[in-house]
Amino acid sequence: MSAVITLFPSSRRQNALNGMSNERVKAISRLRDTSIILLIVVTAGLGLNTIFDSYHHASQKDVSEMLLLSEYLKSVATLRANASLIENVGIAYKVHMLVGMTIFLIFPFTRLVHVWSVPVTYLKRPYQIVRSKISGR
Ligand code: HEM
Repeated sequence: MSAVITLFPSSRRQNALNGMSNERVKAISRLRDTSIILLIVVTAGLGLNTIFDSYHHASQKDVSEMLLLSEYLKSVATLRANASLIENVGIAYKVHMLVGMTIFLIFPFTRLVHVWSVPVTYLKRPYQIVRSKISGR
């Protein structure tokens, strides 16, 4: 967990953690917005969990499972998904891919959808005047 958290630059980490602890952010966050952060952390953990299997294959100099995984992912990317390719691969890879793909399935319905917003309009945006509603502050 700490290994995963240190992968994030501190500002991003603070944003993600703010979402769970800052009262104002919490007020506008829905359950699905916080759940997706946890899902990403769980997926990363499950991804790290595949290293044991991969290390075992590497020590045996056996690349067959990696080739099956890459053929399967190629079939998904080219919209000709062939699940039979991974019928016999380790369960650690299957669980990791299932949870990872679930993120792609549900993120458009969460605030993570904002990863698509490229803030180019900010370059041409006119200045904003920010004033307090309470006079004298
Ligand atoms: C469509 C979603 C995903 C698929 C199909 C997928 C697939 C895979 C596969 C096949 C491996 C094993 C690679 C190997 O052993 O060489 C792997 C490893 C890993 N994945 Fe994913 N993944 C997905 C999403 C994610 C996400 C969202 C994260 C992070 C949040 C993540 C983090 C990792 C990590 C840390 C490893 C271990 C590193 C390594 O073995 O080099 N994955 N993933």
